[in-house]
Amino acid sequence: MTEGALKLCATSEVPQDQSLRVDLPGRDPLAVCRLNGNWFVLADTCTHGMASLSEGEIMGGRIYCPFHGGSFDIRTGAVADPPCTVDVETFPCFEKDDHVYLDLGTP
Ligand code: FES
Repeated sequence: MTEGALKLCATSEVPQDQSLRVDLPGRDPLAVCRLNGNWFVLADTCTHGMASLSEGEIMGGRIYCPFHGGSFDIRTGAVADPPCTVDVETFPCFEKDDHVYLDLGTP
């Protein structure tokens, strides 16, 4: 285990321009997204409803909600398309030894 970090998944679990829902004990679900070879972690639950964003599609740097088609910028979590009006939370992450980690900062 890397100090100050939580292992989320193996890089092989997330194809290019796809996302994976990760459930960690005691935390809200996360969406691990692979975009142009970079990693981003967002809250998995859409801010418009109870949809799982990782079940949506990634196109043009946005993740699209499978319920009503709202979208968010994967890099920033900012709303990109209605009906969403509230940004989705993003979390720092990094890749190490073929795994993606949630960066919890310096312990
Ligand atoms: S629940 Fe995501 S756009 Fe409505």
